[in-house]
Amino acid sequence: MTWHLKTNRLRVDLAGLRLANPTMLASGILGLSAESLSNTVMDGAGAIVTKSVGSKPRNGYANPTIVQTSCGLINAMGLPNPGINEFVKEIREAKSFGVPVVVSVYGFSAEEYATVAKKAVDAGADAAELNVSCPHVEETGVEIGQNPEILAEVVRKVKAVVEKPVFVKLSPNVANIAETAEVAVKAGADALTAINTVKAMAIDTETTVPILSNKIGGLSGPAIKPIAVRCVYEIYERVKEPIIGCGGITNWRDAVEFLLAGATAVQIGTAIALKGPSVFRKVTRGIDAYLRRKGFKSVNEIVGLSHRS
Ligand code: DHB
Repeated sequence: MTWHLKTNRLRVDLAGLRLANPTMLASGILGLSAESLSNTVMDGAGAIVTKSVGSKPRNGYANPTIVQTSCGLINAMGLPNPGINEFVKEIREAKSFGVPVVVSVYGFSAEEYATVAKKAVDAGADAAELNVSCPHVEETGVEIGQNPEILAEVVRKVKAVVEKPVFVKLSPNVANIAETAEVAVKAGADALTAINTVKAMAIDTETTVPILSNKIGGLSGPAIKPIAVRCVYEIYERVKEPIIGCGGITNWRDAVEFLLAGATAVQIGTAIALKGPSVFRKVTRGIDAYLRRKGFKSVNEIVGLSHRS
């Protein structure tokens, strides 16, 4: 049985997707197999985002691919995935959970993003989230997201072949994230996810060498929350399209902070790895209690509220 706090107060419309509550499973932490996705949904996520999928299978990097730091995780998996042709089975299965399924897509060219996104949507995905922000795989991810012309071309090519909403997941590793958001929106993005991980590394003082096999990875978790809140706040001032806040959300107060900054929904990733999927239930209950205590009738009333003060 899927757990959902059934109240109209928590319902949100995200670029046409209807969410029972504003929490979503972030891409990457879980999400490679339909079974692990179902555990999250049962624990009350309003929508799920899969692991990033590309046109061909990829093994990813050698171990170690993840390192825990004092207030977050650094990971460099190298985009391991079975390729879209194999992954369509998972998408079809995930559809049976009864919440919107967003497929995270990467590619090494605009055409590849478009082909993969189209196959994902044809298999039943309710939206595509373009990963133009993976911090360390060459010729994809942030190498695309940092270049306004290439980013716009990717978004335009995907929009031309996909009839479902297209979200663009932005990197904080740019000089001006609001400018990047505007480029994505002008090219047709229906919503923006902010933020992907922050470029980071860790060195083992005993062996004296970098811990991750790729040396550099992406930092997630509570360490990046204030960066992510600032990014959402800046994007909200610049574009009208909905923003999905992501970065270090661990409890309901973190989620409310993102909503106040301007996010319509929030994605949770690292907290699931560290605390288990029950965070969805706890965050959702906490947001609802906050809204009641403050006398708000809908979560929509607090989206961007901090800008009005
Ligand atoms: C990976 C991809 C990401 O988008 C990210 O933020 C961190 C790691 C990866 O697959 O290595």
